[in-house]
Amino acid sequence: MSRRTLVSLALVLAMLLPLVANAAPLEQAMTYTIKKGDTLWALAEKYLGTGFAWPAIMASTNTKHIEDPTFAHILNADVIHPGWKLWIPSLEEAEEFLAKWDPAKPELLFGKRAKGQLVVASWWTAGGEAEGLEGLFSIYREKYPDVEIVNATIAGGAGFVFRPVLKTRLIAGDPPDTFQLHAGLEVEGYDPETYLEPLDDLYAAEGWEEVLPPDLLVLLKYKGHYWGVPVNIHRSNILWYDKSIFAEAGLTPPETWDDFFAVCEALKAKGIVPYVMGTSGGWEAPHAFEDVLAGTCGAEKYRGLWTGEVAWTDPCVTEALETFKKMLTYVNPDHPALTWDTCLEYLKDHKGAMNIMGDWAMGWFMAKGVDIGWAPPPGTKGTFVALSDTFALPKEAPNKENAIAWLKVCGSKEGQIAFNTKKGSIPARTDLTPEDKALFNPYLKSCMDDWARDAIVPSVIHGAAAIESWVTDFKDAITLFVTTGDVAATQAALQEACVAAGACK
Ligand code: GAL
Repeated sequence: MSRRTLVSLALVLAMLLPLVANAAPLEQAMTYTIKKGDTLWALAEKYLGTGFAWPAIMASTNTKHIEDPTFAHILNADVIHPGWKLWIPSLEEAEEFLAKWDPAKPELLFGKRAKGQLVVASWWTAGGEAEGLEGLFSIYREKYPDVEIVNATIAGGAGFVFRPVLKTRLIAGDPPDTFQLHAGLEVEGYDPETYLEPLDDLYAAEGWEEVLPPDLLVLLKYKGHYWGVPVNIHRSNILWYDKSIFAEAGLTPPETWDDFFAVCEALKAKGIVPYVMGTSGGWEAPHAFEDVLAGTCGAEKYRGLWTGEVAWTDPCVTEALETFKKMLTYVNPDHPALTWDTCLEYLKDHKGAMNIMGDWAMGWFMAKGVDIGWAPPPGTKGTFVALSDTFALPKEAPNKENAIAWLKVCGSKEGQIAFNTKKGSIPARTDLTPEDKALFNPYLKSCMDDWARDAIVPSVIHGAAAIESWVTDFKDAITLFVTTGDVAATQAALQEACVAAGACK
C-alpha cells in the first residue's frame, strides 16, 4: 500500500471516528432549509456528528438538484444562502460517501446529468478569470444541458500551484476531462505523448488551421502535434496606471525608464505608492522582470535569450537587472503578502499609481468596475509579449465525448467572444467581423491592433518561451533577486539556467 493511500485511509478514519462517536445519528436522510447563520460545517456537525462530513451534504444536495431543481446547486461550500433547500444524507450514506471522498476530486461533490459530467480544471478563480470561464460555461450549458459542468479550479495565479496537482492526477490515471495549458513549451512538463490526446484530427475537422494565426499554430505544435485548443491571446507587458492620480499630478505614462523613475519620484513626494506589486505567488516579480527584459533588450534580443542565440551575460540583461532593482525601491512594502490581483486594490483605491501585469488585470479591473489607464512598459512600445491559454484532453479523460464538445466550444468564435470580453484577453481566432470587435472594450480593441502590428515575443513565465525546468530556474533566480538585489550573482544564475536547459553553452 502506497504512503499516499495510507495517509488517505488515516484521514478518512479520523473523519469517521468522531462521526460515529458524536452523532445524533441521522437514520433517515432529510430535507433541510438553510437558516441565517448556517454553514455546511455546522450542519454536518449537528446532523452527522462532525463538521468534516460537510462534503457529504454538498454532494447529496447537488445530486438531488439534478432530479429536482428546487434543491440547491452548491457550487462553493462557503457560499450558501438562507432559504436554500438541502438534502442531508443519513449517517450511513454519509459514511459511504466519505470513504471515497478525495479533496483533489471536486467532481465527487456534484451529481451526474443524463450525459454525465464535464470536469474542467483551471486556475481561474480571480476577478475577470472566473467571469470569463463562466462565459464559456454558459455557451456549453446552452448546447449541452444534459451535462453537469464541474468547475475544478485550483487557485493560484499563473498555474504554479495548479500544475503539480494536475500532474499527480494525470500520473495516477485519474485526470479531469480537460485542463488549462499554456500554448508553447509548457506542454513538455506533462509528457504529452504518454498522458494527452493529440488534437490534430479535431483541428482538421473544425478548420482551426484556417482561422488561427500562423505564429500561434507554430507555438501550439509540440513534437509534431497539437495538444491544446486556444481560447485567447493574452499580453504580458502592460503598465496599468491610475488615470486620476496621473491627471492630478500632471503626469503622463512613462515611455523610457528615466521617465519612469521621474514619475516615481513625483508620486513618492505626494505620498502615493509609485509602483505596486504583489509577490506572494512567487511568479509576479519574475513576470514584471520579463517585461523589463523585453524593454531593455528589445524584441529581437529578448527572443534570442530564449533560443540561445543571445547569451544571458549580455549587457542588456545587466541593465534589466539594474533597472528592476531600482524599481523595487518604489514598491509597496506589503508586496510579499499580496497576490497579482489583491495588490490591484492599491490602484482601485487610488493609493498606488502603477503596476506591470498581463492583461488578465484588465479582466479584474472590468469585474471591479475600475476605469484604468494602460500603456506599454518603458521600451516595449511595438513589442507584444504574448501567451495563450488552451485546453487539453487527457488520454484517460472519464467523459471524453463531453470534453471534445468543450474543446469545440473553446475553439469557436462564439465561445471566444463570450470568454474574452470578460477575461481581458483577445480571441485567438482571426475571423472577427467589425460587429464582433464592437463587443470589446477600448483596451481590448487597442490590443487587437497591437497584436496585428507589433513584434510578437513569447512570455516565459506563462509557458510560451521555455521548458518548465527553465521557467522554474528563471523564476527562482528573480525571486531571490527581489531580496538580495545582487545583480552579478543573479545574472550568473540566469546564464546557468540557460545552460541547464540546454539552450546556452
Ligand atoms: C496566466 C494565464 C492567464 C491569467 C494569469 C493569472 O498564466 O495565462 O489566463 O489568468 O495567469 O492567473
